[in-house]
Amino acid sequence: MEIDSFVQKHKNLLDQRLEQLLAASFPFEWNRELFQSAHYALFPSGKRLRPLLALTVIASAKKSVEPLLTPLCALELLHTYSLIHDDLPCMDNDDFRRGKPSLHKAFSEWLALLTGDFLLTFAFETAVQSPQLSNQQKVDLVAVLARQSGCNGMIGGQYLDLHLEGKKVPWQKIRQMYIGKTSSLLSASLEFGVILAGLTDPKDRLALRKLGTYLGIVYQIQDDLFNATSQQALLGKPVGSDCKRKKANALSLLGEQEAKKTLETFSRLALRTFSSCSFSTVLLQEAVQQIFMRRF
Ligand code: IPE
Ligand code: IPE
Ligand code: MG
Ligand code: MG
Repeated sequence: MEIDSFVQKHKNLLDQRLEQLLAASFPFEWNRELFQSAHYALFPSGKRLRPLLALTVIASAKKSVEPLLTPLCALELLHTYSLIHDDLPCMDNDDFRRGKPSLHKAFSEWLALLTGDFLLTFAFETAVQSPQLSNQQKVDLVAVLARQSGCNGMIGGQYLDLHLEGKKVPWQKIRQMYIGKTSSLLSASLEFGVILAGLTDPKDRLALRKLGTYLGIVYQIQDDLFNATSQQALLGKPVGSDCKRKKANALSLLGEQEAKKTLETFSRLALRTFSSCSFSTVLLQEAVQQIFMRRF
């Protein structure tokens, strides 16, 4: 199947499954507002990049993807929580996300905070919901999700992002921040793919974890470039906000030309990781190329 139709088909399936899972979690009326705020944050959808990456691994390993949609939704729930908190006034203070007012603008700050908390815990509940999974697979998924979203993963990266605001730091520090805040969840997504596809060669897991690391750096440099040069109508989120907050990033440290060169270096490193995989990575390689071109 062509990557474009693969993405469209599975994005729709993921959206349907997310709708079902969320609706099933709210059988009563008393917490309806929490349902509405979570729904607002999740729909209409973002790119669904993280579960789609995992699905690409599963399809590449020739496994049927539909029975595994539920645990994959965990990746999107956790990512959406990170975006809600990222936009809060005490963090990036951004008022626009996915083409509409950020959650704390559309609802309230306290509800945005709690909705993020809910999506985080809901992610763990969802990761282990599928009857098709073995107990070992469930334990592996929970361990990956916790490790990659924690203090040495996404939260650690978010800590550095805020801690380094207004500071001049070397590239190594910025790279560490990127690996934390962005690569961690991309590596987690690829590892979800490995676990759910039942790929047992440790080389695959290692290679895809590395792929996630490089891909995250590329993706975040692109994001920083867009923040400086794109338009809110295209991005669906504010432009110029990194500069206003004096964010330490590839662009502010290296300038546009060098940042683009760095991006190309890490793109090449990402493409090299495929040679260590034991399964056919044609579809995954196509997906990665699409991400480089931001066509996902
Ligand atoms: C935004 O992630 C945050 C970054 C890591 C750059 P995405 O670009 O995947 O955002 P959505 O999910 O499509 O909105
Ligand atoms: C967001 O990074 C990373 C996480 C939410 C973990 P940014 O703050 O750079 O991303 P945007 O530009 O707000 O999406
Ligand atoms: Mg941020
Ligand atoms: Mg932000």
